[in-house]
Amino acid sequence: MMQVVTPARYQEFSLERATLAVQRFKDQPGALIEALHELQATFGYVDEAAMPMLAKLFNLSRAEVHGVTSFYHDFRRSKPGAYTLRVCQAEACQAMGAVELTQAIKEQLGCDFHQTSADGLFSLEPVYCLGNCACSPSVMVDQQNYGRVTPERFQELASMLAASAKGSN
Ligand code: FES
Repeated sequence: MMQVVTPARYQEFSLERATLAVQRFKDQPGALIEALHELQATFGYVDEAAMPMLAKLFNLSRAEVHGVTSFYHDFRRSKPGAYTLRVCQAEACQAMGAVELTQAIKEQLGCDFHQTSADGLFSLEPVYCLGNCACSPSVMVDQQNYGRVTPERFQELASMLAASAKGSN
């Protein structure tokens, strides 16, 4: 029986909430990255509407804030799915069928890497080794690793996650 995680809970974005979340970083030179992490942890992504507020807070131009946000691929620019699904693309997993698994997952979810499935459940991301090579091919859902994932096993996992997301609403 696979253990399923409940979806991460994020607050709905509002400029007011965003300002409150990052206020403590004011006047801390170089704290923009920390503020961006804080926004992502609170809302699941960094909303475009927060850019002018961040520029003001750190006394930077909007272009500078944009530059930093897009340089670090860790920062999402759009609302994430209920789960972040990372599919390992590194060598050990590739040798054990990760290419076919990735294709099957993309088809099942109807989206590509860096996109979110239409039902809003999964944001799909590539990852390069999850430290779970002995159980290749591996995927990670939020912080939970799953090994020896076949397309069939993924279907089963996806249904369980969908049910868990429904139940936690
Ligand atoms: S190569 Fe995929 S978990 Fe290490």
